[in-house]
Amino acid sequence: MASFPVTRLRRLRRTGMLRDLVRETTLSLEDLVQPLFVAPDELRNDRLPPLTRRTVEGTVRECEELLRAGVKAVMLFGIPEEKDDDGSGAWIADGIVQQALRALRPRFPELLLLTDVCLCEYTTHGHCGVVRGDDVDNDASLELIARTAVSHIEAGADAVCPSDMMDGRVGAIRAELPDTPIIAYSAKYASAFYGPFREAAGSAPSFGDRRGYQMDPGNVREALRECALDVEEGADMLMVKPALPYLDVLRAVRDRFDLPLAAFNVSGEYALVKAAAAAGDIDERAGALETLTSIRRAGADVVITYWAKELAPYL
Ligand code: PBG
Ligand code: ZN
Repeated sequence: MASFPVTRLRRLRRTGMLRDLVRETTLSLEDLVQPLFVAPDELRNDRLPPLTRRTVEGTVRECEELLRAGVKAVMLFGIPEEKDDDGSGAWIADGIVQQALRALRPRFPELLLLTDVCLCEYTTHGHCGVVRGDDVDNDASLELIARTAVSHIEAGADAVCPSDMMDGRVGAIRAELPDTPIIAYSAKYASAFYGPFREAAGSAPSFGDRRGYQMDPGNVREALRECALDVEEGADMLMVKPALPYLDVLRAVRDRFDLPLAAFNVSGEYALVKAAAAAGDIDERAGALETLTSIRRAGADVVITYWAKELAPYL
């Protein structure tokens, strides 16, 4: 009898070693970045442990554990002592992220230190730029975004990741920092999946929403235009965020651009799997590994994920 193609495929699935040999997409700790929240006071999150806020000392201890577990890259977010209208906590020399960088840099030369560059954690109104009148002022925000990036690099960051979505921010940062790697949150959608993050970072907007500067979930061609602008302005890596509801966007960006591509597996995506696992509906580890593998399969080189530390022993 003729053998059906499916039978040939099955021959390769018969043993784990053969499956491994022909696996198209791999997942390794080198591909993952762990987000960390630095704040003046600790604020534990027992339900979603990686969304815990840590002091500078607590962050140093956590980085020791991360390195021991094999995690090689972190992305720092800051929650300042005090917020103000212009988000000055984002760029002042002794801001919380700058303090953390100065503590981490000399201690962990082998740890890659990435920083999120945005104003929303630092502004009283919680928007990603400065507000003039009753709207976000794009151009007035650029100077402050660039100033924030410069202060992170001066304090020891390896690369900056602008997430504010103001037009022209990559160019504004590039003008100040000609040699600094810029990982641009290029296609960042106005998403419901940022909920746990905004809670952890205390950055929910106090009026309006972010749809004026973040992308409409219905659009993919617009994502390509955003990426093209970031490439032109000097980005070194592009990012799509969130990841799971936007796998097609990742694929489209991967096919169109040759820069390295990151995906942010955001807090709500993490919380979904956690909640289903807590309810006994799915196995968390398997669900997490499948999630991250699918993000890599869609085209991401790098995945920023709250699971990096938890999955380290299994990668
Ligand atoms: C700041 C920023 C956000 C996230 C990353 N950087 C929140 C937002 O835009 O509202 C979300 C990350 C997550 O949900 O895990 N602009
Ligand atoms: Zn923001």
